Amino acid sequence: MAWLPRSVRRRGGLNDKLRVICSSCVIIPSRKYASPPGTEYGLEKKWAYYNQSAIDNFSSKALTKLTPHQMLYAGKSSNGSHLIKSAQYLHKELPKRVARRVKDLQNLPYVVAINPTMQEVYELYLRAFYKLSSYKPIENLDEELQYSNLVQKLLDDHKDVVTSLAKAVNQVKSQIQYEEMSKMVERILTSRLGIRILAEHHIGLRNERENYIGIICTHMSVRNLIEKCVFYCREMCQHNYGIAPSVAINGHVKATFPYLPPPLEYMIQELLKNAMKATVLHHRDKVKAWYEIPPVKVTICNNDSHFILKFSDSGGGIHDSKMQRIFDYAFTTTKEEEATDGDKGGLDSLVKAAHVAAVGGAMSGYGFGLPTTRAYASFLGGTLEVYTLYGLGTDVYLKLGHINGPRDSFRI
Ligand SMILES: Nc1ncnc2c1ncn2[C@@H]1O[C@H](COP(=O)(O)OP(=O)(O)OP(=O)(O)O)[C@@H](O)[C@H]1O
Ligand SMILES: [Mg+2]
Repeated sequence: MAWLPRSVRRRGGLNDKLRVICSSCVIIPSRKYASPPGTEYGLEKKWAYYNQSAIDNFSSKALTKLTPHQMLYAGKSSNGSHLIKSAQYLHKELPKRVARRVKDLQNLPYVVAINPTMQEVYELYLRAFYKLSSYKPIENLDEELQYSNLVQKLLDDHKDVVTSLAKAVNQVKSQIQYEEMSKMVERILTSRLGIRILAEHHIGLRNERENYIGIICTHMSVRNLIEKCVFYCREMCQHNYGIAPSVAINGHVKATFPYLPPPLEYMIQELLKNAMKATVLHHRDKVKAWYEIPPVKVTICNNDSHFILKFSDSGGGIHDSKMQRIFDYAFTTTKEEEATDGDKGGLDSLVKAAHVAAVGGAMSGYGFGLPTTRAYASFLGGTLEVYTLYGLGTDVYLKLGHINGPRDSFRI
């Protein structure tokens, strides 16, 4: 019942009424229904594993956060004991983090809670919590393998959560106060990022790759990563508009250092996608061939403590009236552009392909790209700033700290 707002919970009898009304089964059975999975309860069957006291208990426990430095230098043993230790850490840590998000979702206002897409997200988290919190302790490598398979399965199941969240927020945004909603969305996005980094790190430790320790690439070439994203995003742009700007990469193009490629790849894609789209929409009626469209420029700056990526486009910039809202979740001008420019497709299909490979989920035109990128940058101890010259173009600065730099880096 905690899923329902307190005001509704206080009124007795609503549970049964709503159980009938909501055939899609948003209703959480009260504790009397808690029983082993597989028990037949008709509609309640899929909630048979619901256990509020376990959720309360795990969500109140303190988190044990890791620095990338700790992840990088945790050590490796020939008998695989480092894998067992890593799985034991996840076994303790993941249920706490997932339980916190379950609680967050339970505290949503009722109008949002009954949104079917939000219910799907809730159910995913609830199921993940059940599986993780009821998992037996891990003592040996066989058990570690089985546990890793479960973690991989959960990573796959949750890969589209950002898209679902973006959809749900777009559907309910007129019914809920922006502040309340944005804080909750930000907590879900950043904690999801943390969970995925930890989980992918463990999976990476057991599937060894050259130049990698878990999720961390020990010699990450920023230029190579940008080029990979340019390839995805140009294909996407081509697919949607029949034309795509080239991308010029300059600055410290030879820089390599240890970093976590998945979240960075996600952020670069979002920023390139925005820059390319603005450039094409601003120039496509004025040029005869694709090579007349001004290129998007990406400058890499690498110093002792930070690396900065500057994305410059000549996409006409952002009007003052919109500038204050570009970091709002669910603020997008895609619909206006579709109406005026005949951009029917959005960027969804190919964004999907590109994003699935990255940490975030698939989405397009939801107004999530910039705020999510800023939230990720801040989670990783960095910043995202946008400077625009309306009528000309936009510069976006993504600044992130080195994970082996002199300063204390972030904690995951
Ligand atoms: N480089 C840019 N040039 C011009 N406008 C931009 C640029 N980057 C962002 N914007 C504006 O900011 C808005 C919000 O950007 P954001 O990336 O959050 O959402 P979106 O691109 O519309 O959708 P999504 O990223 O979720 O697919 C955009 O709709 C666009 O109006
Ligand atoms: Mg975008």
